[in-house]
Amino acid sequence: MYKILIRPLLFLFSPESAHNLVLNFFSKAGFLIPVIKFLYSPENSEKFTLNNLTFRNKAGLSAGFDKNGTALRLWDAIGFSHAEIGTVTPLPQQGNPKPRLFRLTKDKALINRLGFNNIGADQVFKNITETKKHLSSDFIIGVNIGKNKDTSIENAVNDYIICFEKLYDAADYFTLNISSPNTEGLRTLQEDHRLSELLGNIQSLNRMISDKKKVNMKTVFLKISPDIDKLSAESVYENVIRHNIDGIIATNTTIGRPDLKSISVEQGGLSGKPLKQLSNEILKLIYDIKNAGNGFKPVLIGCGGIFSKDDMTDKIKCGASLVQIYTGLIYEGPSLLKKILN
Ligand SMILES: Cc1cc2nc3c(=O)[nH]c(=O)nc-3n(C[C@H](O)[C@H](O)[C@H](O)COP(=O)(O)O)c2cc1C
Repeated sequence: MYKILIRPLLFLFSPESAHNLVLNFFSKAGFLIPVIKFLYSPENSEKFTLNNLTFRNKAGLSAGFDKNGTALRLWDAIGFSHAEIGTVTPLPQQGNPKPRLFRLTKDKALINRLGFNNIGADQVFKNITETKKHLSSDFIIGVNIGKNKDTSIENAVNDYIICFEKLYDAADYFTLNISSPNTEGLRTLQEDHRLSELLGNIQSLNRMISDKKKVNMKTVFLKISPDIDKLSAESVYENVIRHNIDGIIATNTTIGRPDLKSISVEQGGLSGKPLKQLSNEILKLIYDIKNAGNGFKPVLIGCGGIFSKDDMTDKIKCGASLVQIYTGLIYEGPSLLKKILN
């Protein structure tokens, strides 16, 4: 039904309008949730446990789809084990001028340069905490955090600290996003000394809060770019180990334009099918570096170009313990999850 009826209808709208339409509709249509659950929720999925979190299956919604946490009930009903909300910044911000999201239909891809449009940490906290009581007890909420556009790279760490503190009680895990191509300078946080400062500060804060509250430290993931070379990947990995980060999400969108059928001169990050090979290469690269070390930590989360069960299997073969999906959901619809998990 999605591909025959709903997708053609949605594709009549601009990509961003269609996106907002779906999120607005489902933030109000709570009565449809049981029907969606019945139709789409996968059965008999393999679980995955990390620290104190048990993921009920290996697939989650990747960051950027639900930046403000307004449709959590939908992601739970479709059957994802987790949804990553955000990227959230300390203060609300508009993002880049529109149009800023483009469909490359022939390639089953998207280009976006949204630029972290979101309603800010306080309001996202409210959205998540108010919805939690309606969610399944085993549904995991990740919060992906970043910096405001107007914050300089020198002061970026402070923005991550603010988000971490403000959203601590709403998040089951945090992802530090240092890899979006649409916030100027953000990717320089992948450089050795900057990354070390960021991870060191976040984990000190994490330890301090957990000691104070007498709870386990919060699980923290780092989301990396597909546009890094082997040397940078090694330096990222060393930092992850040094600061005891729990997982690496590989990857965000690419600024490259690998083998596109569509003609597009739009700037921004490319996602979907054409990203798959590149993100798998980075995943495998990190997996090989990991295996050359202790081979145990961090866990790897594969993201980029999942449209089928085979795509998911490829990520697992490249070393992923979990996967995340965005663009595949736009083109394949909500039954994608059932197809890849059952
Ligand atoms: C429109 C759009 C917005 C995105 N926004 C974010 C974001 O705010 N933070 C982030 O970490 N990743 C963001 N991403 C990247 C996705 O989470 C994902 O890493 C990437 O799209 C690759 O997965 P896919 O091929 O399944 O889409 C965005 C992707 C798209 C298409």
